[in-house]
Amino acid sequence: MNNAVAGFSKLSKEEKINWIAQEYFSNPTEAITTIKQYWNNDAQLQQLHDEFIENTITNFYLPMGIAPNFLINGKYYSVPMVIEESSVVAAAAKSAKFWSTRGGFKATVLNTEKIGQVHFLFPGETAKLKAFFNAVKPTLIDSTESITKNMQKRGGGILGLELRDKTSELDNYYQLHATFETKDSMGANFINSCLEQLAKTLKEAAQNHADFNEAEKNITVVMSILSNYVPNCIVRAEVSCPVEELAEKKIENPQEFAEKFVQAVRIAEIEPFRAVTHNKGIMNGVDAVVLATGNDFRAVEAGVHAYASRNGQYSSLSHAQIENGIFTFWMEIPLALGTVGGLTSLHPLVKMALEILGKPSAQELMQVVAVTGLAQNFAALRSLTTTGIQEGHMKMHLNNILNQYQATAEERKVIAKHFEKNTVTHASVVEMIEHLRK
Ligand code: MEV
Repeated sequence: MNNAVAGFSKLSKEEKINWIAQEYFSNPTEAITTIKQYWNNDAQLQQLHDEFIENTITNFYLPMGIAPNFLINGKYYSVPMVIEESSVVAAAAKSAKFWSTRGGFKATVLNTEKIGQVHFLFPGETAKLKAFFNAVKPTLIDSTESITKNMQKRGGGILGLELRDKTSELDNYYQLHATFETKDSMGANFINSCLEQLAKTLKEAAQNHADFNEAEKNITVVMSILSNYVPNCIVRAEVSCPVEELAEKKIENPQEFAEKFVQAVRIAEIEPFRAVTHNKGIMNGVDAVVLATGNDFRAVEAGVHAYASRNGQYSSLSHAQIENGIFTFWMEIPLALGTVGGLTSLHPLVKMALEILGKPSAQELMQVVAVTGLAQNFAALRSLTTTGIQEGHMKMHLNNILNQYQATAEERKVIAKHFEKNTVTHASVVEMIEHLRK
């Protein structure tokens, strides 16, 4: 079948849905019913969501849960999390509760610098370009004034502007490397607008620069864009307590537990295969809060993983040690987040999530997000180094399997009782459902 279509974006929403239903489903009526089942009854609210992106046909639900009892820098937070994976919220809540009676989490924002670059080609002598840049730098910055005015009032703006020579790696390639402070906004639009203005001014100034020959006057701006790599926008999250205080029901020998835990972190520090999964567990927490608060999880993911490879080998984001009988577990991660702008005032649930967090500043949100990531990592490592991950996971997964098979209340009761004492596997649950239905 040829599923190509011309002018799809020009079709009405109904027409788009009809086209999809006819083209891809043997039962188009059923497909249309499913698509429309997820529309909101409130037409205005639906329109708001339709307009977030293009070619919208429906809404895609993800659950939003709450992990309560996060004690961070002496203040309690209930953390909203949006995620599809079972047991992530439960694990975060469990870690939060555990550490709330052991001093809570400490979090510190170490710096908040964002980065953007104008990538351009200059077919001339580097020394001439350097002299030109030094002369024109104030003009470049002044030309962004109408864009930076409001940000400056909030204490932000352009922090620095450098010319970087990259010609040893790529012929004629230079950058304007700019650093920014964007306060409570993530700053993507602000940074990109500044960069495009810098690029325009750079090009114009070069055209009028008397010392340049004709070729040099023609700077080629390849692109102007922020970098999602923000190694100077770092937050640190930490927990620590005397080793003996780690004791609880499932941790009978806290010294042995702490040593094994530190060992597990060391493995993730030196072994990339493990580091990726270890960090994935951290991102279970990070992404869920980033999504709930309407932030750009792709930007965060890209930046965090680049940071995890900053020393040339992909490595653990978190670290752990036992020193003088004190267990400490911490991580530092880059997080470019906003609590104003973007979806934050548009999406009703994002607004609610931010309200649940007490309308935090971007820096406070960085702390909450990093702590949730660390809590998630703690929960995963605790399970992995004690009972194994499947015990908790499969208990949660049991529910998904029961839903998939549309188990009745009676079936659920019998099955839940059986698996209190038996290991949950997909096959064993299905077998039991089939047995009950015989
Ligand atoms: C699963 O989503 C995350 C874990 O694999 C993380 C880890 O292994 O540390 C449990």
